[in-house]
Amino acid sequence: MTTDYWKSEEFAKRHKGAEHITGPFGLHLLLQCGLDRADGSEDIVLLDNATGTGIVLEYLYGILSPAAKARLQVVAGDLSPAMVSAVQERIEQNGWEHIDAKLVDAMDMDLPSNHFTHVTANFGLVGIPDPRAVLSEVYRVLRPSGLAAFSIFKTVAWYDIAKAAITSIPGAPRFPTLEEYGVKMMKDPQPGDEQWTRPEFFEEQIRNAGFEDVQTTVHENRTRYKDTEEYVKVYKVDMMLKNSWSKEDWEGVEPHIQSALVEELKRRFGDGEIVLNWEAYCVTAKVPPAKP
Ligand SMILES: C[S@@+](CC[C@H](N)C(=O)[O-])C[C@H]1O[C@@H](n2cnc3c(N)ncnc32)[C@H](O)[C@@H]1O
Repeated sequence: MTTDYWKSEEFAKRHKGAEHITGPFGLHLLLQCGLDRADGSEDIVLLDNATGTGIVLEYLYGILSPAAKARLQVVAGDLSPAMVSAVQERIEQNGWEHIDAKLVDAMDMDLPSNHFTHVTANFGLVGIPDPRAVLSEVYRVLRPSGLAAFSIFKTVAWYDIAKAAITSIPGAPRFPTLEEYGVKMMKDPQPGDEQWTRPEFFEEQIRNAGFEDVQTTVHENRTRYKDTEEYVKVYKVDMMLKNSWSKEDWEGVEPHIQSALVEELKRRFGDGEIVLNWEAYCVTAKVPPAKP
């Protein structure tokens, strides 16, 4: 399955509208790294990997003290040119300093080794075609004692709703499980790779990449939508699911998706507010001080 949809301008535009889902977990990553307590006694050289439209940066510049900001250098990297230009715009609008937005493939970074003190990746590990390559690259670019921070969804709130809606369409193809969907996004998946959303599994992969002191916490985010109309504007399932079915299967289902979704939402939430509960693992891991 291709993940090229990430590179489209449309996806970047939509992603901005999804920051209310991802952003709060990014804040947890920064807090778990202790960046809110940074007092300016050390340099912070941070890569925000798979930065998307840059919501983690918004929180970063919000929590750092002026003294810490004076010693801050940031790279905001993403594979998608559309995301990078959205971040560039955000940098200019906010007047942030000492920050570069650039095209970076998290699986093969054109960035120096032993350079960064921190690498954050808010939902930029699982979902990328080769998460092991991401871990090995993050390890390479971090300095000895550097900190990596990743978030991984535990509960994807829209998925069950979309599954129930689409399954109700007569003749719809089988809806993949979230684990199957994750494996489809991978390049050369290995046996067991459907377990990337299980803490025991991802923690082991992180340790295998050379990290130590792996710490996992679980956080929640509750998102709210006034009505079904507002919901369907945010959760357009097409780009995500289109890629996991054949063209014929997709074309058979597509004309019925919106109405099936609205029906399912009404069944669950009536005419009132729609409230979704999201959960994610926030993981930090350290490069050993004596990095080989
Ligand atoms: C789920 S979004 C998360 C964005 C952002 N970190 C946030 O919290 O909102 C995943 C991002 O990974 C980017 N991406 C996908 N593959 C990538 C790769 N190989 N290298 C770097 N970024 C990649 C996508 O373009 C997208 O912006």
